[in-house]
Amino acid sequence: MKSVIIYYFSGTGNTELVANMVKEGFTNYKYRVSVVKIEDVLKKNLEIDVEKYDLVGIGCQVIGFGIPNIVYKFINSMPKVLHKKMFIFRTAGGVAPINYNSSRPIIRKLSKKGYEVFYERIFSISSNWIDKFDDIIIKKLYEATTKKIAIMCKEVINGESRILKTGIGIKVLMTGVVSITRWIFPLLGKDLSANELCNHCGLCIRNCPTRNIYESNGKIKFNFSCCSCMRCVYSCPKTAINYRLFTFFRISDGYNIKKIIGQPLNERKINSKKVPKFYYNYISNDTM
Ligand SMILES: Cc1cc2nc3c(=O)[nH]c(=O)nc-3n(C[C@H](O)[C@H](O)[C@H](O)COP(=O)(O)O)c2cc1C
Ligand code: SF4
Ligand code: SF4
Repeated sequence: MKSVIIYYFSGTGNTELVANMVKEGFTNYKYRVSVVKIEDVLKKNLEIDVEKYDLVGIGCQVIGFGIPNIVYKFINSMPKVLHKKMFIFRTAGGVAPINYNSSRPIIRKLSKKGYEVFYERIFSISSNWIDKFDDIIIKKLYEATTKKIAIMCKEVINGESRILKTGIGIKVLMTGVVSITRWIFPLLGKDLSANELCNHCGLCIRNCPTRNIYESNGKIKFNFSCCSCMRCVYSCPKTAINYRLFTFFRISDGYNIKKIIGQPLNERKINSKKVPKFYYNYISNDTM
């Protein structure tokens, strides 16, 4: 029986949904599938044992057009291998060339360690920052993503190569942008704060994937190792956490992807003024 191990990081659930669908996709082809959270590997010091698998997959969200710093850290701690086939899947607020270079820095690193990344794909269910899509759009994106994941699994199993490419202009521009956002985004964690609604339940401290939150002198504090996942912001039961300056990052009604997907919405009409640019192409074109 062939086997695949999938390592993923998800801040607010989109990538987790996708990772579980990828698991199902491979299981349908009779693969033995292991799915592991990157934060568990780092927090619990788990062994990263890729040798006994035929394929390795890595999934995470696009953050600041690049990679969340927790995933860089994970890749740095991956073992060197002689040759291992690997695929990468990402989730993003939008599928567009502006995000196509987002995996380049890790593909280079992985290749130096002996991994051959032969396939990458970006999925979009919804944006979890600034502006949430309409629930009906999210549901349609989710359905389209389900189809695309089945296609991805088949193509990966068949060994088809798929590496996202852009023109040289976008490549140079976005490489520059990512080299800046990579250092700036972790600092934005220092802009987070918990207000007086906080009841000190400790949930944010326990759930932060990078151990960036602590309590000192009866106050919730944030350090410099934030990976900008926004999990603490959306999961605080008292809605006490927000940015001080970057308040527009937080979607005002909160963000709970499982709740949105679980609603019966199919009869609801799409408001054409609120359709994201990539939407029609994404739901109608399986190669996107
Ligand atoms: C701080 C931050 C930065 C983001 N940057 C981008 C980006 O550069 N491009 C993009 O398409 N989406 C961006 N997004 C949206 C997420 O990539 C997207 O919603 C993703 O599916 C969230 O995955 P998760 O729920 O697994 O964390 C960003 C989200 C956050 C919170
Ligand atoms: S999750 Fe919210 S209420 Fe609980 S300790 Fe953190 S900020 Fe306070
Ligand atoms: S502080 Fe909040 S946004 Fe930053 S890594 Fe922790 S949970 Fe994510």
